[in-house]
Amino acid sequence: MKKKIIGALLSVAMVTSALVGCGSAAAPAAEAPAAEAPAETAEEAPAAEAEAPAEAPAAGGKVGVSMPTKDLQRWNQDGDNMKKQLEEAGYEVDLQYASNDIPTQVSQIENMISAGDKVLVIAPIEGDSLGTVLQQAKEAGVAVIAYDRLIMASDAVNYYATFDNKLVGTKQGQYIEEKLDLKNQKGPFNLEIFTGDPGDNNARFFYGGAMEVLQPYIDSGVLVVKSGQVEFDKVATPGWATEAAQSRMDAIISANYADGTKLDAVLCSNDSTALGAINSLQANYAGSHDNWPIVTGQDCDKPNVKLMLDNGKQSMSIFKDTRDLAAQTVKMVDAIMKGGEAPVNDTESYDNGVIKVPSYLCEPVFADADNYKTLLIDSGYYTEDDLK
Ligand code: BGC
Repeated sequence: MKKKIIGALLSVAMVTSALVGCGSAAAPAAEAPAAEAPAETAEEAPAAEAEAPAEAPAAGGKVGVSMPTKDLQRWNQDGDNMKKQLEEAGYEVDLQYASNDIPTQVSQIENMISAGDKVLVIAPIEGDSLGTVLQQAKEAGVAVIAYDRLIMASDAVNYYATFDNKLVGTKQGQYIEEKLDLKNQKGPFNLEIFTGDPGDNNARFFYGGAMEVLQPYIDSGVLVVKSGQVEFDKVATPGWATEAAQSRMDAIISANYADGTKLDAVLCSNDSTALGAINSLQANYAGSHDNWPIVTGQDCDKPNVKLMLDNGKQSMSIFKDTRDLAAQTVKMVDAIMKGGEAPVNDTESYDNGVIKVPSYLCEPVFADADNYKTLLIDSGYYTEDDLK
């Protein structure tokens, strides 16, 4: 109830009119300190190579950061950026990675609560597996920020910091639309589709954004999905696993494209699935076909940027600057710690089944071989050596 009121107030007072990336909204002014003093029973986080905490004047308090896995490059960057920026803002940070294992994530969060963390920043492995532990957080007066992925089926989520996930999918769909000139051509062009983990709310937004662009062309026959696998459940990739995407692509190629039929585009929701599709194309398609399909992606992971630079084996990726998302999340933490309200710019889009979670959406950016230098190198995200 309280959240609904806060949400309504926020929608009037704080929603910014346009999405212009992160970092444009200032944290509200400090008010009275929020939470009670934590019990000092913390275990040290075993994760991330931490630099020495900056000696900035501490707003005080400990922040738990729960990341899903170290397996994907992006979550390591997210964790590192957050730790660094929170420490610079004067907070103590308990950073944990859960090896994509839900019970591990739950017990790490339990430990954070009992260690007296005042704010938890959580990127859930599976959106609706944290209800019970978050109830404990709520009862202990611990604020929760869902990070990048929405936490579902719980009213104990105070805020959500993410990128505009639907826009990620829209940009991927529009890329295929433009490259195949679907507005003017009749085709038919062959398309296959790979999205992410069914338990990750983001996957539905990525898929939804892309399909809003592409579905009309499938309906009119300009695009043909020869495998017949179009619905979300058929094209989902458990755990976002490269191997799962690769073996599904192996089966699709052998059943539909082994006779020389041309595949024109592969919609992949992110870079780990794109990598699986590309591995399979290299093994099963490259030698027997004289074209290479358009392949989309997301995250600008190093191996995928290399594939973009290597004869365009991956055509594009969506760049989500994890430094900006971390900075925005730090503003949220800071506002909560100081007893104020966090800056948000969307109070409508992210309904977790129980509440609409006040959100801050950063803007995802399109990246390809033409603009990678400005976007990734000049901005200091990667060095040229990282991409060799
Ligand atoms: C993130 C993507 C990421 C995927 C797999 C999604 O929730 O938004 O950036 O590629 O998870 O880790």
